[in-house]
Amino acid sequence: MAKYIAEPYRIKVVEMIKQTTYEERLDYLKNAGYNPFALRSEDVYIDLLTDSGTGAMSDQQWGALMVGDEAYAGSRSYYKLEAMVKKITNYRYFIPAHQGRGAEHVMLPLLMKKDNMVFISNMHFDTTRAHVELAGARAIDCVIDACFDTATYHPFKGNFDLEKLEQIIIEKGPENIAGIIMTVTNNSAGGQPVSMENLRAVSAIADRHNITKIIDGARYAENAYFVKSREQGYQDTDILTISHELFSFADIFLMSAKKDGLVNMGGVIAIKDDTELFKRAQTRVVPYEGFPTYGGMSGRDMEALAVGMFEALDEHYLKHRLDQVRYLGDRLKAAGVPIQFPVGGHAVFVDCKKFAAHIPFDQFPAQSVVNALYLEAGVRAVEIGSFLLGRDPDTHENLESPVEFMRLTIPRRTYTYAHLDVVADAVIAVYQKRDKLVGLTFDYEPPVLRHFTARLRYL
Ligand code: F0G
Repeated sequence: MAKYIAEPYRIKVVEMIKQTTYEERLDYLKNAGYNPFALRSEDVYIDLLTDSGTGAMSDQQWGALMVGDEAYAGSRSYYKLEAMVKKITNYRYFIPAHQGRGAEHVMLPLLMKKDNMVFISNMHFDTTRAHVELAGARAIDCVIDACFDTATYHPFKGNFDLEKLEQIIIEKGPENIAGIIMTVTNNSAGGQPVSMENLRAVSAIADRHNITKIIDGARYAENAYFVKSREQGYQDTDILTISHELFSFADIFLMSAKKDGLVNMGGVIAIKDDTELFKRAQTRVVPYEGFPTYGGMSGRDMEALAVGMFEALDEHYLKHRLDQVRYLGDRLKAAGVPIQFPVGGHAVFVDCKKFAAHIPFDQFPAQSVVNALYLEAGVRAVEIGSFLLGRDPDTHENLESPVEFMRLTIPRRTYTYAHLDVVADAVIAVYQKRDKLVGLTFDYEPPVLRHFTARLRYL
């Protein structure tokens, strides 16, 4: 078997990146308060902070920018993008938004029929949870337990626990559930896919209780490829057909187009057939995002997104994309580095509960590994664990996250396998001296979303 799949593209434009010395990196990291969010990107050699808006556009997309129609109302580019969203979802209605959280801000409050409602998801992404709470609701996760067992193979670790889902609905009362949010893939615990069988079952449960179904589909195309390659009966089905089935299980589609839209900025709100809800969303999008035919996007960006959404369905692209992540995961696993296994669609999640087992959760083991990786090779990763989770609003104690991950997030069409080898070698080098890792504490802790701007020091 080939070690990896060659890129299904050739490179037309390059952006130089800079290698730095250990001493320089030590200086940069110290100035950043031992928080890589505060680094300048030019001081990062390989940037795996996120796959959001960091991918490379194709020549077709760059070409499309030129024909963007910047009309305030009724832009030609809007209609082009609308046609593409409809083609992929089979939904009737589309409104653009500036990015995923813009789409959440417009839509989630519209689903609140009264106070104190609840949203249920396999796992809410951070901004989704924030918008659920800002809308006055509460967010409950109900992913399968296998998701937290990083060492054991399960083909669809993003699946809902169906029994738990039924229990929550009965306990809270169906009339108190504002919506069920299916996050595909499930970012927060590894970019893990959700099976079609599971989505079908969730949809049936929701229908039985008359609950609105939402797909948070930032990475829906990657999920579709996992269905094709792992779920029985889909091997000969094309990605567009799989996507149609996936979207048939929801009423609303919210998307951060910065991922599988293959653009640097953009968002999608699509509604299957609820005309009344569409009208309300159109009214609400105006003050927050913009007129309903641009919703925070410029005409040229809508053009590029229409092309990007089409390109993301390409199986050669998806196969290579997921193989890059698989390759990095395999290299780490072969060296004994603990990771969320199998790897998901957009990132390798390193299990730092095991990697830095001697560091307690409130000294942020994964953040310590993230910093060590930057010092080792100038690679920037991101912590997804107790540092990100924050404090209990009542007791003000640090909350303990069920997972302590370092996410190595792979931007789309941006880095080569040679870059991934640099990353793997560096992670393995840090792993081999893991007993020297030291915990961290705060020099400055902001009251909300602390991980973005906190300053830390070593204990
Ligand atoms: N939903 C999911 C599943 C996401 O992963 C993100 C963003 C959003 C919604 C919000 O979209 O950033 O366009 O406003 N995830 C990025 C990440 C930020 O790094 O995982 P946005």
